[in-house]
Amino acid sequence: MTQEMTSRLVIDYRNATDHAVGADNGVSAAELDAIQSYVSEQHARINAEHASQVQRWQDLPDNIALADEIAAFAAEAREQYDDFILIGIGGSSLGAIATIMALCHPYRNLLPKGQRVGPRFFVLDNPDPEKVKATLETVDLSKTLVNVVSKSGQTAETAANFLVVREALVNAVGEAQAAKQIIATTDPESGILRQMATEQGFRTFPVPPGVDGRQTVLSAVGLIPAALAGVDIHALLAGARAMRERASTDNVRQNPAYLLAALSVLSDTNHGKSMLVTMPYADALFGISDWFRQLWAESLGKKLSTDGKEVFAGQTPIKALGAIDQHSQVQLYTEGPNDKLIQLVAVEEYRDTVAIPEPPHADLEYLKGGELGQLLSRERLATAWALTQAARPNLTITIPTIDAGIVGEFFYMMQLQTVMAGALYHVNPFGQPGVEAGKNATYALMGRGGYEDLKAELLETPTDADAYICS
Ligand code: PA5
Repeated sequence: MTQEMTSRLVIDYRNATDHAVGADNGVSAAELDAIQSYVSEQHARINAEHASQVQRWQDLPDNIALADEIAAFAAEAREQYDDFILIGIGGSSLGAIATIMALCHPYRNLLPKGQRVGPRFFVLDNPDPEKVKATLETVDLSKTLVNVVSKSGQTAETAANFLVVREALVNAVGEAQAAKQIIATTDPESGILRQMATEQGFRTFPVPPGVDGRQTVLSAVGLIPAALAGVDIHALLAGARAMRERASTDNVRQNPAYLLAALSVLSDTNHGKSMLVTMPYADALFGISDWFRQLWAESLGKKLSTDGKEVFAGQTPIKALGAIDQHSQVQLYTEGPNDKLIQLVAVEEYRDTVAIPEPPHADLEYLKGGELGQLLSRERLATAWALTQAARPNLTITIPTIDAGIVGEFFYMMQLQTVMAGALYHVNPFGQPGVEAGKNATYALMGRGGYEDLKAELLETPTDADAYICS
């Protein structure tokens, strides 16, 4: 039976408005009113595109059959394997990392087998030889499940890491057994990885067509690692559906995704806030800031508008963590350039409570009877107050607690927020031509066939190159 939920996330945006931080820095009611009809128009366009099979990321929370299949696969794999290596980069790994960081024990890899749900979790995203070698030295390859994830099936970092891990696995357990320990998440039909999977008999799961890598967190890409780590993936999808239902209105003040998009883009275009800081007050939510950072940057950082003009759009996303960054970044946020909108994330009830013991020193009396979560929450309130005093716009997203439903809400809301922000910037949030240029240059430098001209161009030495070398 399909589980249903109600959205529980609350946004308090007063401190991002002119009422709290002044007309120069805050968005006014008139500015929100002024974009309402455009938001309604774009809402209709997004819905029409969805009806004609574009914006297919919106359908991912409905794929219960896939979630059932993954949950059944994960239940078996959890019994069978001690270690799990995810090989993928960008949209092919950040969502899984964010989910597991939010919903699993922070030191789950260190827990003894009986106390840990599922295998230890390792990610190979960067082709960093030191980390890859260390990972292979740490896992027990005979009990390791490898999930190689690539939508295109050809990303150089993923391909290289996979070839290294596959060879190690073959050496450890033999070719036939290695094939049983590899699952590939990739395009259902095309790409090198799909071909290899077919030839070598890997079990496969699909990356849904028509969905960019950074929108795949609620597909097999994000769900397989999460389910292996014991996350309730059905609740994750139910949370996303709850947010989808709530975000079905075109009202910019009532739709949380449109409200956040409007505040961010208006803060940037009308008030010079070219950076967007996401600062949760919970270690577990730091991965969501990182996932969102990629989503916001790759979707909105675009040279051309939808009508082909050079706009160089985008707002630089920054990840921060409360209270740690109060001792690192907040000095800059309160007294440096007033160029940021800061979205704080508040947790009403942490999953654990830790009482602060009786202080042995009079100067620490103020902590007496306190609790760590209470301290963290008060630090957030204090930061919001200090930022507001300094006329730095900020808003607070409050969640009741951290659970799978709330994480699903975040994923869905932030994706819709990004799509509407694209509309407000007049850019296409899908595709990533700038990333593709770098990918092609890497292929050329590594000698891939078909990239010979680009390689020659890249290796051409400028005549004045020596003048700029400091050695
Ligand atoms: O959002 C995106 O499309 C990118 O960040 C990709 O996820 C990333 O480049 C990895 O690509 P692939 O999954 O094709 O290996």
